[in-house]
Amino acid sequence: MTRTKRPRRLRRDGVRGLVSENRVSASDLIAPVFVDATTDERIPIDSMPGHERVPVSEAVDRVEEVLETGVEAVMLFGIPESKDERGTRAWAEDGVVQRATRDIVAETDAYVITDVCLCEYTDHGHCGVLEDHAADDPNLTVKNDETLELLGKIAVSHAEAGAQMVAPSSMTDGMVGAIRGALDDAGFEGLPVMSYAAKYQSAFYGPFRDAADGAPAFGDRRHYQMDPANSREALREVRLDVEQGADVLMVKPALPYLDIVSAIRREFDHPVAAYNVSGEYAMLHAAAEKGWLELDEVAMESLVSMKRAGADLILTYFAEQVADRL
Ligand code: PBG
Repeated sequence: MTRTKRPRRLRRDGVRGLVSENRVSASDLIAPVFVDATTDERIPIDSMPGHERVPVSEAVDRVEEVLETGVEAVMLFGIPESKDERGTRAWAEDGVVQRATRDIVAETDAYVITDVCLCEYTDHGHCGVLEDHAADDPNLTVKNDETLELLGKIAVSHAEAGAQMVAPSSMTDGMVGAIRGALDDAGFEGLPVMSYAAKYQSAFYGPFRDAADGAPAFGDRRHYQMDPANSREALREVRLDVEQGADVLMVKPALPYLDIVSAIRREFDHPVAAYNVSGEYAMLHAAAEKGWLELDEVAMESLVSMKRAGADLILTYFAEQVADRL
């Protein structure tokens, strides 16, 4: 029978690769690394199999492990030795991320990106300076403009330690501009900012909050992170960050928000990053552990779907595992 149109012609081995539209490469991946100032030993993270909090003394070894897989960039998160109301350890010259960054930059070729936020450093676990309301006020939230000043200080302290990119994640209005200004004033005009531009208030961050010890002590983050119901608002958030000088635009989480990745890809010409978050990693692991999914395959399929949606960079806890197979 004559059929002129047969898409299956291009699905055979040999030609599949030639016509493949998207590819995950190790050079697109960023591996999150947790550095913990409260420990001398590596501590496995139960809800994120294969991941650990490492002491500062092992930060270089941990990053070397990442580099061996072909992944070239890491995103550092810190667990400080102590927390307080304002999160002062977040911008300390001898803070956990600052010390780890110095060592990693001195001893490895990794590209070091740092998460700029306060939630791991404040005793209340929120991403900024709290308002003066009563602690049981359900509307209690963070003060926007006072928080900006602290974010600028954190970014500069990371840059001084040698970070090559900073990634503000607090969803404070004006955070990119404040950080850009602080970096420029300190002489770091050339240091790029990757904004967590469209960061949703997501239940998929659960395992991360165990990993980084950053769960809010009360309430949630709905007063600053985005409502999962909204998509036009994401474009507005991104536009503001672009105006303030963001170099890379991130969407977080990734899989449940690929429509947002794709919308941003169409509207803007900046590089787009997708953050494949802790809960996305944990759920695949949990299903694989039960024998219900094949982990390597679902991991790769997840990442390639992010590329297809339009992501250039992917932050993922699967980075090493996937890069190893490429
Ligand atoms: C800090 C931050 C969080 C994540 C990245 N940076 C936690 C949060 O906002 O609650 C989550 C990452 C993940 O779940 O993998 N603000």
